[in-house]
Amino acid sequence: MFSSISEIMCIDCAGKEVSIRGWVHRTRSGGKIVFSTIRDHTGIIQVTTKKGNLPDEQFDNALKMLVESSVEITGIVKEDVRSPGGYELLVSNFNVLAFAEPYPIQKDQSEEWLREKRHLWIRSRRMMAILKIRSTLTGAIHDFFRELGYYEFTPPIFTPNACEGGSTLFEVKYYEQKVYLTQTWQLYAEAMIFSLEKIYDVSPTFRSEKSKTSRHLTEFWMAEMEAAWLTYHDVIKIAKDELKFIIRRVLERNRPDLELLEVNTAKLEAMLDKEWPTITYTEALKLLKEKSGMDVVWGKDLRTAEEEEIMKHFDTPVAVTEYPKEVMAFYKPTKEGGDAPGPVAKCFDMLAPDGGLEIVGGSERDTDINALIKALEAEGENVANYDWYLDLRRYGSVVHSGYGLGVERVLQWMLGLENIKDAIPFPRTMTRVTP
Ligand code: 4AD
Ligand code: MG
Repeated sequence: MFSSISEIMCIDCAGKEVSIRGWVHRTRSGGKIVFSTIRDHTGIIQVTTKKGNLPDEQFDNALKMLVESSVEITGIVKEDVRSPGGYELLVSNFNVLAFAEPYPIQKDQSEEWLREKRHLWIRSRRMMAILKIRSTLTGAIHDFFRELGYYEFTPPIFTPNACEGGSTLFEVKYYEQKVYLTQTWQLYAEAMIFSLEKIYDVSPTFRSEKSKTSRHLTEFWMAEMEAAWLTYHDVIKIAKDELKFIIRRVLERNRPDLELLEVNTAKLEAMLDKEWPTITYTEALKLLKEKSGMDVVWGKDLRTAEEEEIMKHFDTPVAVTEYPKEVMAFYKPTKEGGDAPGPVAKCFDMLAPDGGLEIVGGSERDTDINALIKALEAEGENVANYDWYLDLRRYGSVVHSGYGLGVERVLQWMLGLENIKDAIPFPRTMTRVTP
């Protein structure tokens, strides 16, 4: 019977004989004694192997094994304040299952090398902590929506249509046809709300981004929701609740991982009790001018530097609403009235503090079939390809809204990761599709 490492690091286990299995994290020897740390998915423990306490052949193996060898070890648990975690194992049986070759990853290697060796680097304590939090995060999204009575709906990945503009579509040869990898589940979600009304998903999403930035992947995971009868203001509230739910869940379940990553948890905790503001795009420009002395021409989409500057004035995420209709995707409806200098859309982006990352984007969906046709034409799309989508406006059209939350963006923000590539196990970017 094998125990996990975290299970045996407790006062009840002190003095008891236990067996563990895992991989050699570090090892050094002083002649008749080998000090190693062993890793499994729950933690690491120091293991002390003394010649004479186990068969000689086993000791010799422990002496010569290199890091990342796989092992099964039996020993007595001993409290030891100097060891990581406060316990060590005094070995009576040491079985090397597979001797590792010299490991290509050592201290202080370049980020690029670590990405080249990603299939090995995911074993690092840092990546393990991030990936455990990622698992909590996606699990939380499922729980959040299911508790609200939403159904999970998974969209097709091969699609004939663009939704977020043609320039970031990945083309795929599909027998004799050309199709695309999905940019968003949205068009299918809009079809599905006439059936299930309240739906969500967490799905892979593809964009052939032409820029190499620290916030763009070509393959990422988007958690989307769509619901009949809701306005964009209704779903902004849901997005704020969802993010608070995620933060709360990660704080509850991943304390040791957050600590290892040196995340400022007090800052995250403080956000839970605050109201998260909603401001309009026009108000954001005013703020940029008055508080930061930055002039942005009304009508232009916000750039990264501007989003970053806006968020210097907030300590929680902020929903920025009502962007100029002109620069928005075809499906975002015009908001009538108001005092903006030009037509605006019923839409929002959620920006995060400390960098201004866009973590969520969403909107109400245009129910006016003629406006949709006009906007599609303006984007240069072949309207005939969207005829199935336009059917949704022909048969019982209702107000509906939805949004997409970037899973890696939220992780990047919450954990303060410099590069979004560390928020996904095997990143895909303009310059990398391996390993
Ligand atoms: O703002 P976006 O483009 O919105 C949509 O696709 C809508 N159709 C969603 C909807 O209403 N159902 O993308 C949504 C979010 C962004 O806010 C961002 O967090 C993330 O997806 N995202 C990316 N994450 C990583 N790499 C990229 N290249 C991303 N592009 C968008
Ligand atoms: Mg967006």
